[in-house]
Amino acid sequence: MKNIAVFVSGYGTNLQAMINRIAKGTLRVNLKLVLSDKSSAFALRRAKKAGIPAFFVDPKKFTHKNDYEHHLISLLEDEKIDFIVLAGFMRILGPVFLKKYKNRILNIHPALLPAFKGAHAIHDAYEYGAKVTGVTVHFVDEKIDNGPIIMQEVVSVGDHETMSQLEKRIHKVEHGIYSEAIQKVCDNRFSIRGRRVVLRAKIR
Ligand code: GRF
Repeated sequence: MKNIAVFVSGYGTNLQAMINRIAKGTLRVNLKLVLSDKSSAFALRRAKKAGIPAFFVDPKKFTHKNDYEHHLISLLEDEKIDFIVLAGFMRILGPVFLKKYKNRILNIHPALLPAFKGAHAIHDAYEYGAKVTGVTVHFVDEKIDNGPIIMQEVVSVGDHETMSQLEKRIHKVEHGIYSEAIQKVCDNRFSIRGRRVVLRAKIR
């Protein structure tokens, strides 16, 4: 089984969904480490409650971004981490980190990329009047919300739906699709051809 680390900054419902699936045996990975750039992240408490080593690494303690990232890398190397899963991690990773973990960092975005990039994707799609939006899981590259797409799922927007109803439905989709994508990547059932990620079914 592959070793993964989850990076968080906030509430951690995606992290919780992974923890629950691992407990049920439907996500087969070793979740070895949770790292947060925010001391107040509720996700840290979720991890600790599940018995997963979880740490706040304060970026302000490092003079340069590179030093911060070298420190993160050393923590990941100690645990022999294969893949990094960003789950509401609000920090942009720099070249040092991206080079080291090329095509081994996953992110989830609550819209159908390349539409509605940025930190307020659900709100932006709703306000735009989009009839469909959704969820994207992608590899992370040097541009924001840009790397090769691993999986996407469409969520239609009801004409009379409120923003918070839509938000709830999108999060529910996130909690399923993220584990599915993580499993495929960790089982090495993918290849990357240019921007295209080709997924393979499980051989039984
Ligand atoms: C999710 O909507 C995810 O798509 C985005 O940040 C949010 C994190 O939510 N990248 P949570 O902390 O997992 O509840």
